[in-house]
Amino acid sequence: MKTIGVYTSGGDAPGMNACVRAVVRTAIFYGLKVKGIMRGYEGMIHNEIIDLERQSVANIIQRGGTFLKTARSKEFMTSEGRKKAYENLKKHNIDGLVCIGGNGSYTGANIFNEEFGMPCVGLPGTIDNDLFGTDFTIGYDTAINTALDSIDRIRDTAHSHERVFIVEVMGRDSGFIALDVAIAGGAEGALIPEDIEDWDKVIKHFNRPGKRKKSFSIIVVAEGDERGGALVLEKRLKELYPDLKIRSTILGHVQRGGSPSARDRILASRLGSEGVKALLDGKQSITVGIISNEVVYTSFEEAITGKKTVSKDMIELAEILAI
Ligand code: F6P
Repeated sequence: MKTIGVYTSGGDAPGMNACVRAVVRTAIFYGLKVKGIMRGYEGMIHNEIIDLERQSVANIIQRGGTFLKTARSKEFMTSEGRKKAYENLKKHNIDGLVCIGGNGSYTGANIFNEEFGMPCVGLPGTIDNDLFGTDFTIGYDTAINTALDSIDRIRDTAHSHERVFIVEVMGRDSGFIALDVAIAGGAEGALIPEDIEDWDKVIKHFNRPGKRKKSFSIIVVAEGDERGGALVLEKRLKELYPDLKIRSTILGHVQRGGSPSARDRILASRLGSEGVKALLDGKQSITVGIISNEVVYTSFEEAITGKKTVSKDMIELAEILAI
């Protein structure tokens, strides 16, 4: 292996730049050439491929987003698209890939490897933390801290106006962000897709016998909750408890931006470096993750189909602390 390509794909996440930096610097350290593929699979198909040197990744470790840009490519889902992508990689003599992204990005890389035998290593980059094969994904720590900062601010106004605030957070189909943020933000309830019975618990919360009377509350809802998001819950609560003063806030994409936390920079740096080493060791079609502080390799197959679930203990903890 002489030249590797690196790209970011799917939703961006704080720490992606730090990860690209680690890939580039580690590759150069081991005598490899590195190419940056712009806009993930879109750039592969449209030949947007640039040379990356040691200096190309200077002064980016602290920046949110991804300087390589990112996209979700429909064309790469077609075999013609993937063929074009392969031909472009060959033009640039790329003989190994590092893909930083989530499940959809892994799926693309896995198919690509099956079709063209291109060695590819996946690194978990998403704010959702929903990827199997790693304790934490790049961007998650920053995202929960960003959401928490907003919740602390909402708490101030909730307290002043004696209102109930429903805060909807991201996470796609998973409740990692919602549950952690609910615990860290002292919320009265967390509605997450992994615990659908919680709906009634949240509703009942407002007239639970013996419940201390508090004039304000924060409830965190995961966007992927099948019972609906913040606005649905607000409507239901208003019908049941017309006297409550309720407001909803959807945090949205603010959670994806910002300078990565120290934890995310360290995780991204470690994974970026280990990704290159894995390629050099001849590994392919795997993801690199960290579990209990150890580097772990997981096949794409397993990473794509495996389900990482929130801990039952944490669900219970959120409930206990909300009494
Ligand atoms: O996967 C990251 C994520 O931010 C999810 O939490 C969210 O559901 C989705 O991406 C939003 O995607 P988009 O930016 O395309 O609207």
